[in-house]
Amino acid sequence: MKHFIEESLQECLDSLPESRIKDAMGYSLLGGGKRIRPLLLLSCLKDLEIDPLLGLDAASALEMIHTYSLIHDDLPAMDNDDFRRGRLTCHKMFDEATAILAGDGLLTLAFEVLAKSNYANLDKVALIRELAIAAGSAGMVLGQTKDIEFEDHPVDNVDELVEMYRNKTGKLLAVALKMAAILAGRYDELELYASVGENAGIAFQIQDDILDVTKTTEELGKTANSDLVNHKSTVVSLLGLDEAHRTCEKYYQTAFDTYASLGLKSGEVRKLLELLINRQN
Ligand code: IPE
Ligand code: IPE
Ligand code: MG
Ligand code: MG
Ligand code: MG
Repeated sequence: MKHFIEESLQECLDSLPESRIKDAMGYSLLGGGKRIRPLLLLSCLKDLEIDPLLGLDAASALEMIHTYSLIHDDLPAMDNDDFRRGRLTCHKMFDEATAILAGDGLLTLAFEVLAKSNYANLDKVALIRELAIAAGSAGMVLGQTKDIEFEDHPVDNVDELVEMYRNKTGKLLAVALKMAAILAGRYDELELYASVGENAGIAFQIQDDILDVTKTTEELGKTANSDLVNHKSTVVSLLGLDEAHRTCEKYYQTAFDTYASLGLKSGEVRKLLELLINRQN
């Protein structure tokens, strides 16, 4: 499946005129990445007995939004990191202005791809709406704002941190499953699908925080100890590693339980989440 995602992302970029901004967008978008969000979307389509290849436009749009969020997350004004996906961050390879614009370019291209897709008009509008809400200032952008805010005001309440994780990371995993549910016409169940992704996303972010302090830059392909250097409030800094592991397991378990309640036969999403539990980067 990953191969089809790479191909689809490449095709989306191919439609752009040659320019420095296209180079920067391609550098970040095509330069590795686990592709968890698009894989979740396609796996969920399989569970819903729909040809996963029909989800490629939606999956590519989602990965573009995610990649834009990483380019901006790495900027000096945010996490100020030098490495991403095994190479220099976009602003280090190009320059800051180009990295900001490459993020802008990917954010808008995502919606262009959805608008130009062959999905039924009603589904298309729903996909655009849900992706915009998940990515925007009630979703990922809100979470990122809180993340920065908490650098100066350390959080002493784990619920507040989890809420921030739900927004900055959970919502983009949630929308992967929601988009699959939209394409399957399961409009009545969107929130249930979202809940699986949200809980998995919270667990995924706690894991990211654990990996940040336990792995090297080489192993991660991105700057290790970034959270410490930036005085981030994380579940690890608040509760310590052992409790962070337990909290992570708890959220994965909630994701599995909610997923089981959907009663899907093939279990593709569960298999993908099981792989994530043991991820090393
Ligand atoms: C990194 O996401 C940012 C978080 C939300 C933790 P990924 O771990 O999915 O990064 P890539 O896409 O594989 O590079
Ligand atoms: C998640 O948090 C980033 C986004 C939502 C884009 P991090 O800042 O921890 O992600 P990494 O560790 O840089 O990948
Ligand atoms: Mg960050
Ligand atoms: Mg970061
Ligand atoms: Mg991190």
